[in-house]
Amino acid sequence: MFSTNLGLEFSYETYKETADWLLSKTSHRPKVAIICGSGLGGLADSLTNQDIFKYSDVPNFPQSTVKGHAGQLVFGELNGKTCVCMQGRFHMFEGYSLTKVTFPVRVFQLMGVKVLFVTNAAGSVADGYNTGDIMIIKDHINMPGLIGLHPLIGPNDERFGARFPSMANAYDKSLRNLALDVSKELQCSDYVREGVYCMVSGPHFETIAEARLLYKLGVDAVGMSTVPEVIVAKHCGLRVFGLSLITNKVTREYESTEVVDHGAVLSISEMRTGVLQNLVTELVARMKVNDDC
Ligand code: HPA
Repeated sequence: MFSTNLGLEFSYETYKETADWLLSKTSHRPKVAIICGSGLGGLADSLTNQDIFKYSDVPNFPQSTVKGHAGQLVFGELNGKTCVCMQGRFHMFEGYSLTKVTFPVRVFQLMGVKVLFVTNAAGSVADGYNTGDIMIIKDHINMPGLIGLHPLIGPNDERFGARFPSMANAYDKSLRNLALDVSKELQCSDYVREGVYCMVSGPHFETIAEARLLYKLGVDAVGMSTVPEVIVAKHCGLRVFGLSLITNKVTREYESTEVVDHGAVLSISEMRTGVLQNLVTELVARMKVNDDC
């Protein structure tokens, strides 16, 4: 299933076909897209005036295979702003090519979306983090990309973006500042902080030696998603805002008896669903979305 077919998997027309199909089936015209991470799909449930499309019904859409991911697109309004939410994303560890992982992002861009929100579950690597903390992503390390597994490898379609896109300010500074202000107002700034996210392919959780390496590289939190979607979003001109929910601490001690499992990831997600939902809802309500952003 996994292929490194160098960006030739989907033509511009394929992305367009999916975008046009969705636009013909819903009257919503979202400017904001939200990718909901493991156990964080509850946000989509809070949209009003929903139009829901199962991934299996959307032409050209990949299917999600992870437990806890619903696998559907939910269109609707969040605090008066029209959004589309992905309930369930595609991961590299499932065997999808990175063009499949990022397929929805280009579809959203062609539908008129201007801002991409990404959320994920992550393990903390840096000192001082606790489970349940919410990390506003300030920057990322694209670990698969550093060894040539990158969503933009292959022929570049200029209709989406430049051959050599900049990743400076990949995570929009004004949205990050707004999120810090909103978290103060919501009285959750005790456990909201900014940090660097590192993507690893997974599916294994880090070994002690890997955890020590990531720590030395300056990683604050590690996870198995998000970075490919962010790169493709930046490439095609979207603004990006990202949140990691810290569901576990990544141990760097051989003596430690802590064991991470997917169940723990889901239960911490459940605990913080409400706060994350409030934070994203408030941000979406307050941010300015211009046609030229
Ligand atoms: N490592 C990688 N991915 C993760 C983790 C982790 O500890 N927790 C949640 N996603």
